[in-house]
Amino acid sequence: MKAKKLILGLFLLGLSLTSCGKGPSTLKEAYKDYFPIGITLNKENYKLFDDIIGNFNSMTCENEMKWSSIHPGDDVYVFDDGDRLIDYAKSQGMGVRGHALVWHKAVPSGIFYDNEGNYLTKEVMFEKLREHIFETVKHFKDDVYVWDVVNEAIDDSNDALKEDNSNVYFKCPWYDICGPEYVLKSFEYAREALDELEAETGREMNVKLFYNDFSLTNPNKRAKTVEMIQYLIENNAPIDGIGMQSHYHIGSFSIEEFKTSIETFASFDLEVQITELDVSVYDVNENVSSYEEGLPEEIEAVQTAIYDRLFEICREYKENITGITFWSPADDSTWLDHELGKKDYPTLFDIYHEPKSSFYEVMDF
Ligand code: GLA
Repeated sequence: MKAKKLILGLFLLGLSLTSCGKGPSTLKEAYKDYFPIGITLNKENYKLFDDIIGNFNSMTCENEMKWSSIHPGDDVYVFDDGDRLIDYAKSQGMGVRGHALVWHKAVPSGIFYDNEGNYLTKEVMFEKLREHIFETVKHFKDDVYVWDVVNEAIDDSNDALKEDNSNVYFKCPWYDICGPEYVLKSFEYAREALDELEAETGREMNVKLFYNDFSLTNPNKRAKTVEMIQYLIENNAPIDGIGMQSHYHIGSFSIEEFKTSIETFASFDLEVQITELDVSVYDVNENVSSYEEGLPEEIEAVQTAIYDRLFEICREYKENITGITFWSPADDSTWLDHELGKKDYPTLFDIYHEPKSSFYEVMDF
């Protein structure tokens, strides 16, 4: 009897020691030997996640570093919101992903036209591009560790993802006026601005330069992106990596395509970062009404399995993957609610910031 009690006692002691929290309790600790784990914040919500912020060691501003936010008019630069978010990130020990220097959205439309509404010349646009990139890069210096230099330059309009569509670049004013050179020039100017900063400060600027886009697991869009990468490399563009935004939904994640994309970009000696990760619980191929009352268990299980595999693959490719950032911090604050017009639950934390089953899966390796 005594022996039995002793064995039970030892068993319970063992159990309590294991559950005493020997393993890491935050994402950033669990992934410290892999890559930074990031979060996206904006000027309205950045103080609302104190209870989970300790999971993250990287921060992206949702809008506060985009052209229209910091450079709303010719010669008008307003860096206050970005600076405030950077101060907050620093106070929490988070690095900052700079997002994004050049995009066809979030840019004042007037910058492309003269007084008669005609497009300005390529030369004038390159001057504007250079000035914007220099001002911005030189303002933020190495408070950012990476810049998304160009966002979404690859064609994605209407039938862009069909094989018979041969447009490589998205038809926007940047492309109409400057052709693919606007992508190349953007990288060149960003590098020149960093070089100038290095000369001025006598300090090495450890700031990587990335191209960022969505649907990069789509074979057709991936092929177009490869064409652009080849063009950039042939022209000696100072590009360090590719940002795969990774806005998935429960019907869209393909493990094989995800792997192929990482391998493809890595084959050009480029780093890969997952920059805007979320997994919507609505399969866009199915017409599902809103889960207003909460996330059904069976749907959460599908989402959890996707997060589990995705992180597993990223761990497997840790030599190539240099960061994973979630586009929304928790389910109570997601752009998808607005985008889809129904309540979505795309993150690892629920609307009360409690860890979901996906959190535990991602932590368990
Ligand atoms: C794109 C952009 C982001 C953000 C999302 C939507 O992915 O890169 O900055 O605007 O769209 O919220």
